[in-house]
Amino acid sequence: MYMNDFIDTPFDPPQDEHFEQSLRPPGFEDFHGQKKVVDRLMLMVEAAKMRDDVLDHVLLSGPPGLGKTTLSNIIATMAGTTMHTTSGPQIDKAADLAGILTNLQKGDVFFIDEIHRLHPAVEEYLYPAMEDFRLDIIIDSGPSARSIQLNLPKFTLVAATTRAGMLTSPLRSRFGTTNRLDYYSAEELTVIIKRSAKLLKVEIDEGGLLAIGRRSRGTPRIANNLLRWVRDFAQVRANGKITEEVAVAALEMIEIDHDGLDEMDKRILEAAIYKFNGGPVGLSSLAVAIGEDASTLEEVHEPFLIMQGFMKRTPRGRVMMPSAYKKIGAPAPTKSQEDLF
Ligand SMILES: Nc1ncnc2c1ncn2[C@@H]1O[C@H](COP(=O)(O)OP(=O)(O)OP(=O)(O)O)[C@@H](O)[C@H]1O
Ligand SMILES: [Mg+2]
Repeated sequence: MYMNDFIDTPFDPPQDEHFEQSLRPPGFEDFHGQKKVVDRLMLMVEAAKMRDDVLDHVLLSGPPGLGKTTLSNIIATMAGTTMHTTSGPQIDKAADLAGILTNLQKGDVFFIDEIHRLHPAVEEYLYPAMEDFRLDIIIDSGPSARSIQLNLPKFTLVAATTRAGMLTSPLRSRFGTTNRLDYYSAEELTVIIKRSAKLLKVEIDEGGLLAIGRRSRGTPRIANNLLRWVRDFAQVRANGKITEEVAVAALEMIEIDHDGLDEMDKRILEAAIYKFNGGPVGLSSLAVAIGEDASTLEEVHEPFLIMQGFMKRTPRGRVMMPSAYKKIGAPAPTKSQEDLF
């Protein structure tokens, strides 16, 4: 079991695969936002279809919950092929990889989630498979060891990662395109929440949509999770209808503030400011201080805090920005600290 298996976005109600599945857009037309990436993917799928060829390998990167798995599903559906799903840590031997690859049909989509966690020895087998659709397998050991070559059907590798920077350059260069997903604007999220509310058959007005959209940290998964909570709250306390007032009250109850910051985010800012004097503080020291796993801190919490301008990554460590002091109600940093910004 890896620590990362527990990683998820803040305010994560009990994992409900069915809930997430039911709200997952089935086609590009229901997938709102990420226009550049979607346009590029649609074009690639169409071009491959016109040439009656197999789609090029696709890499999708970006923070959790922005739609990487959703897009992979859509790509497979649009290309009219079957998707085979696995994840980096699941393939621990070259034989596991060979087992999957030799079962593919021409044009199938092979989806590897968390590809940055692929074992380096397995990764080397993937290179010729991606490039020449060939697998070199070594059988036996010692003097009788020999290598045999297996020809594979032409397939499309779709890979997702929250850590594009951790991929080796030989691996990265074997993808036709690299597609980075970015956080969504509050307005884009309102469109997504509106669609989810319709599917969940819950009534919500514009004020309610925007109140949830603004507090969703630019992340559709969080938006859907918050909507689910607000729906329950509205059912019990407000005749089932979600207005701005109802949404705000519901989200206050789970301590999500109007910037979408939750308890953990505030703990990070408080620890960095009160225990480390605003930084610079190293990632691992900060992680220990808040009792969180360093990679969760780095992949899940920090990107949003950085994007919102609360903190900065510098070569010497994490540094808190003036807005972080304001957020937690701490006195503004002194002059000498300001030099660090
Ligand atoms: N653009 C979008 N439009 C509508 N819903 C979306 C969109 N992107 C994501 N979602 C919703 O958010 C949920 C999470 O998306 P998804 O599982 O694809 O994220 P991910 O990037 O694969 O996350 P992780 O890195 O944790 O695997 C999905 O169930 C889907 O309903
Ligand atoms: Mg995913």
